[in-house]
Amino acid sequence: MRMVDLIERKRDGNSLSKAEIEFIIEGYTDNSIPDYQMSALLMAIFYQDMTDEEISYLTLAMANSGEIIDLSSIEGIKVDKHSTGGVGDTTTLVLAPLVASVGVPVAKMSGRGLGFTGGTLDKFESIPGFKIELSEQEFIDIVNKSKVAVIGQSGNLAPADKKLYALRDVTATVDSIPLIASSIMSKKIAAGADAIVLDVTTGEGAFMKNLEDAKRLAKTMVRIGKLAGRQTMAVISDMSEPLGEAIGNSLEIVEAIDTLKGAGPKDLTEMCYVLGSQMVVLAGKAETLEDAREMLEEALHSGKALEKFREMVKNQGGDVSVIDQTEKILTAEYESELPAKTSGYVTKLVANEIGIAAMLLGAGRKTKEDDIDHAVGIKLHKKIGDKVAKGESLLTIYANSKEISEVENLLYQNIVIGDTPEEPILIHDVITE
Ligand code: URA
Ligand code: CA
Repeated sequence: MRMVDLIERKRDGNSLSKAEIEFIIEGYTDNSIPDYQMSALLMAIFYQDMTDEEISYLTLAMANSGEIIDLSSIEGIKVDKHSTGGVGDTTTLVLAPLVASVGVPVAKMSGRGLGFTGGTLDKFESIPGFKIELSEQEFIDIVNKSKVAVIGQSGNLAPADKKLYALRDVTATVDSIPLIASSIMSKKIAAGADAIVLDVTTGEGAFMKNLEDAKRLAKTMVRIGKLAGRQTMAVISDMSEPLGEAIGNSLEIVEAIDTLKGAGPKDLTEMCYVLGSQMVVLAGKAETLEDAREMLEEALHSGKALEKFREMVKNQGGDVSVIDQTEKILTAEYESELPAKTSGYVTKLVANEIGIAAMLLGAGRKTKEDDIDHAVGIKLHKKIGDKVAKGESLLTIYANSKEISEVENLLYQNIVIGDTPEEPILIHDVITE
């Protein structure tokens, strides 16, 4: 097989076979196929698309390029949850203990965030002592005992995707549905879950800016998950405004604790019920979504979910006292309010720009090497649809520097106050096939 022939075939709109796709992924992983040929192929895929068969061959070839985690020694059906990205997305912090508290095993491998706010690992590390490096045996033992553990992604999970993603990033080929779908699903499949719940976000703060593309991505991922023998479903959620009120690592831990106490923001709580119910049903712990939701509501209101969070933090070496004394991790030196310049209703809170504002405060990374400041971030007091009076605080900025005028300007530019109230949409669709 010659790579140049395969590039030509894809360029002309033909499909590649399983053997051809395996040849490409193996060759790219072992460096026998150079970046320039791979770049040409990526651009051909960008323009010519791929069939479902091609996408599933690509996904499996990338999953098989590294270690496949074996979770079979954990009892029960392991359900993983993945979001295609958002701003202030605190759901995993709530969902992991919440669904574990009703008996669903959560063996979660998470990544660090690049850009915007930190990833799930960065958020958990806001809790002093919290360890995200456990041996495989410790990880399995903890999940068997307590039903939940969250660890850092192993270095050798889908290495082909890691290399390809870096190449896509510099060849303008990130925004391609077959490439995004195979990238995400290869890592989920390698991470060993039996079933997968996807949160595909749409709107300004998401990869997929419009609903049609989000639906296509969701349907593609659900189909390739099933072809790979994993029960898969997707919720399409809105990410035009940040989720919940907190954006920033410690702030989101506190928001998760509030939510687990039943006192969290309405949208975040609802998102957790919707995604959590799907996870409970896929895990076989409830027959219907209604039953699952009832179980989750009971766990939240009885305090069982918060107790599970406490157990999880303790198991992973974290300081559990922060759960009752959250001020211990809210250590930013300066807190300042952003007053509304006019009265009316909030009609826009542009998620990605607010994420950038949080990053500029130090809550996210500009490059992989940057350090994160866990204490800084933004707490929204108004969300889309809320009434606001001139002079009233729109949000609080938590900073460790007095130089925040750039951040304030960016925030003002991306919060629009209009005359008529708008009802925000949270869930656009649920895709099961
Ligand atoms: N997230 C991924 O892991 N891969 C993509 O291609 C896009 C988002
Ligand atoms: Ca949040």
